Amino acid sequence: MAETVSHLQLNHEQIDRDHEYFCQLVLQLKATTNSEFSELFNTLIEHLEKHFHYEQTLMRESRYPGINEHVGEHTRVINELHNFNKRVEVGRLSMAKAYINSTIFDWFNLHINNMDAALVAHLNKVSATA
Ligand SMILES: [Fe+2]
Ligand SMILES: [Fe+2]
Repeated sequence: MAETVSHLQLNHEQIDRDHEYFCQLVLQLKATTNSEFSELFNTLIEHLEKHFHYEQTLMRESRYPGINEHVGEHTRVINELHNFNKRVEVGRLSMAKAYINSTIFDWFNLHINNMDAALVAHLNKVSATA
């Protein structure tokens, strides 16, 4: 049976859709062959960069007070992924694979349950008072 994964739904259409796609990519990465790992890993990084950029645009437009902390966390994770990717590009997959297999969903769920949930709550509050 194919592995599935669930995450908190925030009832924000685009953000939930992005999060779902992220989960699909990680599951694909867990199951992929070594020869296809690098391309998929790049796809994951590109997707996450776009998703973070989207969330950060929402933060700026809504004058989100938690912007610095949230952007800082996005930047930290993107830097971490780029560091893993440098190794992947020279054929050293083990650290990136370990990260994908053991750590990334924990980080992802923690991030959604705390930072993304707080952002969506703020967006709902702002749009209710607009
Ligand atoms: Fe986020
Ligand atoms: Fe997110």
